[in-house]
Amino acid sequence: MMHALVFAIAALATGVLQAAGPAKVAVADLAKGQAVASAVCVACHAADGNSAISIYPILAGQHAAYLAKQLHNYQVKPGAAGAERANAIMAGFAATLSEDDIRNVAAFYAAQAIKPAYAKDKALTEKGQRIYRAGIPAQGVPACAGCHGPNGSGIPSQYPRLSGQHADYAAATLAAFKSGERANSGQMMTIAKGMNDGDMKAVAEYLAGLR
Ligand code: HEC
Ligand code: HEC
Repeated sequence: MMHALVFAIAALATGVLQAAGPAKVAVADLAKGQAVASAVCVACHAADGNSAISIYPILAGQHAAYLAKQLHNYQVKPGAAGAERANAIMAGFAATLSEDDIRNVAAFYAAQAIKPAYAKDKALTEKGQRIYRAGIPAQGVPACAGCHGPNGSGIPSQYPRLSGQHADYAAATLAAFKSGERANSGQMMTIAKGMNDGDMKAVAEYLAGLR
């Protein structure tokens, strides 16, 4: 009882101090982000974001602003029919996260190092490399490198990192852009519409080994 009271007062005092502080921009708390990651996200994305299962995206080393945007996009906004990025699994987890949780867990995963990965299929990788560097002009597909960068590292707050991502996940998310299940980027939806399944598989295989 007493403990609970002391805790409540301490929490209140912290709240007041934070509210009174001059800084308007909230700073991410990596320790709190790690706590969320190791309590909840670990089951699929691993404690350090290097998910070992190819359908779960690697979050390690991804840009924090991009990760936070995705978590917002999985949430169904009040009055909306569905989420901008519809996914039954992530909808449930994103719904439980506060704004602070999102900022903290995104910053935590962004700060983790991505483990080197390798492409497995040589012929697919070569086709994927051509698409990545030159696009598919006949199908109106632009070069991926134009936005995601020559080595797939992206640009923080604009373009996500693609290098080292699991090929299965990358191909699946391209297909989701094409079908509109993932409707959180007009640019990527248009680009994916120009690609067939073979193109997506090839470029995804190339990305897995890119660094
Ligand atoms: C039960 C497994 C599971 C758990 C637990 C889980 N995720 Fe996910 N996560 C997924 C799957 C599957 C996807 C891909 C969904 C899709 O295709 O949109 C995903 C996608 C994501 C993405 C998008 C990544 C990208 O590259 O666009 C983010 C960010 C993310 N999860 C963060 C989290 C965080 C933070 C937690 C913990 C609060 C969490 N996830 C817990 C399975 C899980
Ligand atoms: C005009 C700029 C642009 C070009 C060109 C482009 N992309 Fe993207 N891409 C984006 C943006 C912006 C996002 C982030 C969308 C979001 O906010 O959800 C993205 C996201 C992605 C994702 C999702 C990453 C993840 O972790 O879920 C994949 C995969 C991807 N792009 C692959 C490609 C491929 C393959 C090509 C070339 C065929 C390509 N992109 C060309 C702008 C671009």
